[in-house]
Amino acid sequence: MTSKGLKVPDDITVPFITGDGIGKEIMPVCKAVVDAAVKQAYNGNRSIEWLEVMAGQEAFKQNGAYLPDETIAAFREYLVGLKGPLKTPSGRGVRSLSIMLRQALDLYACQRPFRYFYGVTSPVKYPDRINLCVFRESTEDVYAGIEWPFGSEKGKRFGEFLLGELKEEKVRFPESTAFGVKPISREGTERIIRCAIDYALSHNRRSVTLVHNGNIMKYTEGAFVNWAYDMAEREYGTYLSSGRLVLSGITCDAFLQSAILHPEEYGVIVTSNLNGDYISDVFAAQVGGVGMSPGGNINYETGHAIFEATHGVASDIVGRNVANPCSLILAACMMLEYLGWKEAADLIVTAIERTLRQGITTADIADSFKHGNCVGTKEFGDALVNMMTSGTRVIR
Ligand code: NAI
Repeated sequence: MTSKGLKVPDDITVPFITGDGIGKEIMPVCKAVVDAAVKQAYNGNRSIEWLEVMAGQEAFKQNGAYLPDETIAAFREYLVGLKGPLKTPSGRGVRSLSIMLRQALDLYACQRPFRYFYGVTSPVKYPDRINLCVFRESTEDVYAGIEWPFGSEKGKRFGEFLLGELKEEKVRFPESTAFGVKPISREGTERIIRCAIDYALSHNRRSVTLVHNGNIMKYTEGAFVNWAYDMAEREYGTYLSSGRLVLSGITCDAFLQSAILHPEEYGVIVTSNLNGDYISDVFAAQVGGVGMSPGGNINYETGHAIFEATHGVASDIVGRNVANPCSLILAACMMLEYLGWKEAADLIVTAIERTLRQGITTADIADSFKHGNCVGTKEFGDALVNMMTSGTRVIR
């Protein structure tokens, strides 16, 4: 997962956004776990200096801006950062801050690894069959944000152009239709497919699966598939012909069924923006919910990357010390791997495995433990640090 050509000094500065809601509870825990892992893995020869940057409710209170320019500038300068959840500001037409950040830095690859940790509650019988990574293109598609309110000037003009100049006859109710646009480009397709294939080759995965709706949306999703195969043939032809790499396609509806029935058939999945959103939640639900699934938003060409908890601000549990910090901690592990600090990432993942195996969990994933020990956010973090620093046992 390491970015090609990233030169990482031993002492680095990582900008971070604490986030709204439970962000204030999980971020300090996450930083403590990461610091302990880095110290343990490198005997104090490497370190992270955490640089807090503002975004969300707190930023608005202090500066009147939800996403201040200085925050974007810090991520731009330091390349790699960490982010807690941000509440989407209320109000018509206000966009998610996470999406604004991704767009500002052109973080086109939304990378979501899914694996099961033994002992976590799951609604499926064999969650341990899931061990895969989803690559979701995150700058294009119907999620690009090109749409207009019904009755707006631009919406009207777009409708007139479509119905008048282009003589499009498929709009069922022309007088009462709101419009949006689905852009899919060859460049956008090629760069996300490249990420997925590079990941497969560097992680000993053979199969890369394109999930699409090309059977219905032939000129957008269909083009996504065609451009993907063309690029793969051109740039990875030898891997394809030797059988080291197998690139195949499946329609999204068939895939969503298969994702539940036969998840073990998949190693690397690559898809467009909207499909990727749905697919990620299908796998997250099976491995323990949003509290257990991390994400990274990456531009492999510039090196910019922001790793984040994939859940929201969880207003219903704020301030109760019950939030699961694993999504953010596992996102930090992705960050460490990306930086090439794999030893520290491995220490944390092993600590999570062992801690959960001992039945120590947060409330959201605890139900199935007959003799488990459900602990708070902070105590779970302490258990991880203990596990890393004291060897294999956690002191309860
Ligand atoms: P949510 O993820 O905040 O909550 C959904 C459910 O999951 C709630 O019951 C919550 O208690 C639970 N949950 C979430 N994270 C948890 C954790 N770590 N441990 C235990 N339980 C957890 O989703 P919702 O309610 O749809 O969104 C709330 C706000 O968060 C919205 O403003 C939304 O836009 C924003 N949001 C931000 C994201 C981001 O910054 N990446 C992602 C998703 C939502």
